[in-house]
Amino acid sequence: MTHPQPHDLVGIGIGPANLSLAALAHTQPGLKAAWYEQRPAFHWHPGLLIEGATLQVPFLADLVTLADPTNPWSFLNYLRQHQRLYPFYFSERFHSPRAEYDHYCRWVSRQLPSLHFRHHIDAVRWNPEQALFDIDYTRLGPNGEAEAVGRSHARHLAIGIGTAPHIPEALRPLAERPVVPVVHSADYLDHREQLLEAGHITVVGSGQSGAEVFLDLLRRRPPGRERLHWITRTPAFAPMEYSKLGLEHFTPDYTRYFHALPEQRRDELVARQWQLHKAIDHETLAAIHDELYRHSIGGGWPDVVLTPGVSVRTAGRLGTTQVELHLDHAEQGERSRLVTEAVVMATGYRERPLDPLLAALDPVLRRDAAGRVVVDEEYRLVLDREVTGSVYVQNAERHTHGVGAPDLGLVAHRSATILNALTGQERYPLPERSAFTTFGLRRTGAGGAGPGAAGPSQGVRRVGV
Ligand SMILES: Cc1cc2nc3c(=O)[nH]c(=O)nc-3n(C[C@H](O)[C@H](O)[C@H](O)COP(=O)(O)OP(=O)(O)OC[C@H]3O[C@@H](n4cnc5c(N)ncnc54)[C@H](O)[C@@H]3O)c2cc1C
Ligand SMILES: NC(=O)c1ccc[n+]([C@@H]2O[C@H](COP(=O)([O-])OP(=O)(O)OC[C@H]3O[C@@H](n4cnc5c(N)ncnc54)[C@H](OP(=O)(O)O)[C@@H]3O)[C@@H](O)[C@H]2O)c1
Repeated sequence: MTHPQPHDLVGIGIGPANLSLAALAHTQPGLKAAWYEQRPAFHWHPGLLIEGATLQVPFLADLVTLADPTNPWSFLNYLRQHQRLYPFYFSERFHSPRAEYDHYCRWVSRQLPSLHFRHHIDAVRWNPEQALFDIDYTRLGPNGEAEAVGRSHARHLAIGIGTAPHIPEALRPLAERPVVPVVHSADYLDHREQLLEAGHITVVGSGQSGAEVFLDLLRRRPPGRERLHWITRTPAFAPMEYSKLGLEHFTPDYTRYFHALPEQRRDELVARQWQLHKAIDHETLAAIHDELYRHSIGGGWPDVVLTPGVSVRTAGRLGTTQVELHLDHAEQGERSRLVTEAVVMATGYRERPLDPLLAALDPVLRRDAAGRVVVDEEYRLVLDREVTGSVYVQNAERHTHGVGAPDLGLVAHRSATILNALTGQERYPLPERSAFTTFGLRRTGAGGAGPGAAGPSQGVRRVGV
C-alpha cells in the first residue's frame, strides 16, 4: 500500500525545542511537516510561572533569532505585533518574565498550521517497503480521554518530548497517597493556596525551582510566623555559574568540543559541571536573603530553617494531618526526623525515556556502553544503515552534547542544524565560531586546525527531502 501524502518531517512533542523547529521550518519552501503534542495547547511549565520569575537566558534566546534574526517568529516581532516595542525598549530588561516567554510561544503556536494538539504519539516503526516511518497516535478529547486512533507517515522524525518531574524513591510513598499537600514543584501554583493553609511547610531541593518556591512562600508568610523548612541534598545553596566566559559552555563551539570527547570523559564532565545547569541564580539568592532580612527587622529571627547537605532518606504519614521525613546529613554523618504538614518536592526533572516510543526501532538503534542512544553531531540517532530515514532528537542528548541540551539559548541553533542536515542544504547559515574560548588544543568541528583558526563551513549531508 502506498501512502498518499507522507510528510518529510513529523515532530513529536511541542515544547520550545520542537516549536523552534516548526517556526524555522515554516518559512522553508517545499518542506511538508507536521508536529503532534498531547496537551490541548502550548503552555510552558505553567505550575512555575510565579509572579516576577524571569527567564535565565536573554530574550534573544527566543525560538528563532540566534539562527535567523529576520524570521517572523522572533520575540521582537512578537512585541511589535502586540504594540509593545516601546515599553520593552524603556524597560531595559534582557531577562523577560517567564510568563511573557510563555505568551510569546503561545502566540507562535497559534499561527503555525502544522501543529496538532491533543495527539499522543504511541509508537513509531520503520516501514522498509515505503522507506517511511509509521507514526501511531491517539487523538485525545477535552479531558484527555482517548477519542480515536490514527497513523501518520514521515520520511524523518524529530523527537522533542522533553523532561518529566522527578520524585525520588524516598518521597514516592507520600506522593502516591497524600494525606496532606505533597506536590512536585512543577504543580506548585495549582496548590499554592492549599499549601499556605498548612501550619508548617517543607521545601525539598535547592535548584532554581526550590529557591523560587521557597522565596514565594516566605513572601506570603507573616514575619515571625513563617514556619518553613528548606532542606536539600546539594552541599550548599549554591549560585549558578553566570560569568560571561563561563556562559560560553552554552555555545555551539563547546557543544562540538564536548561531542568529540570519549563517553566516559563526557559523563564525568556533566556531573562536575552541576553549577552550570543546577544551582540558583544570583538574583534569587539575593532576593531570598533580602526577604529573610526584612522578616528579621525588629529583632526576631524568622521561623525558618535552611539546611543544605541533607537528603530525605525515607518518609511516611503521621496520622491524617502530618508527615515525617527521615533525614541524613552527609557531612556530620547524623540522622534526624522532621515533622511537617506540607511538602513541596523541588527535586528536579528527568529526560522522558525514548524507549516506549522507539521500542520497534530497538534492533536498529546503536547504543553506547551505558545503553544510551548514540546521537551524532547533527542530533541524529545512529541507526543501522538499512533505515534510510533519520530520527532527530532535541533535549535527549545531554550525554552526547553536554549541559547545553535543555538550554533555550541553543534551541534555534539546534533547529537550524537539523533543518540543514535534513534538506542537505545550508538553509540557515550558521557561525563557524561562537566563543572566545578555544575548547581543547585544536578547535573541533567547523574545521579549525588550532586556536583562532577559521575553517571551511560545516558540511551538510543530504538525506533526501
Ligand atoms: C520551570 C523551568 C524553567 C526553565 N527555565 C529555563 C530558562 O529560563 N532558560 C533555559 O535555558 N532553560 C530553562 N529550562 C530548561 C528548558 O529550557 C525547558 O525545560 C524547556 O521546556 C525544554 O523544552 P523541550 O521542548 O525540550 O521540552 P518540554 O518543554 O518538556 O516539552 C516537551 C513536550 O512533549 C510533549 N510530549 C511528551 N511525550 C509525548 C508524546 N508521546 N506524544 C505527544 N507529545 C508528547 C509534552 O507534553 C511536552 O509538551 C527550564 C525548565 C524548567 C522545568
Ligand atoms: N527561572 C527559571 O528560568 C527556572 C526556574 C526553575 C527551573 N529552571 C531550570 O530547570 C532545571 C531544573 O531545575 P530544578 O530546580 O527543578 O531541579 P534541579 O536543579 O535538578 O534541583 C533538584 C534539587 O533537589 C535535590 N534533591 C533531589 N533528591 C533529593 C532528596 N532525596 N533529598 C534532598 N534533596 C534532594 C537535588 O540535590 P542534588 O544536587 O544532590 O541532586 C537538588 O538540590 C534547571 O536547569 C533549572 O535551571 C529554571
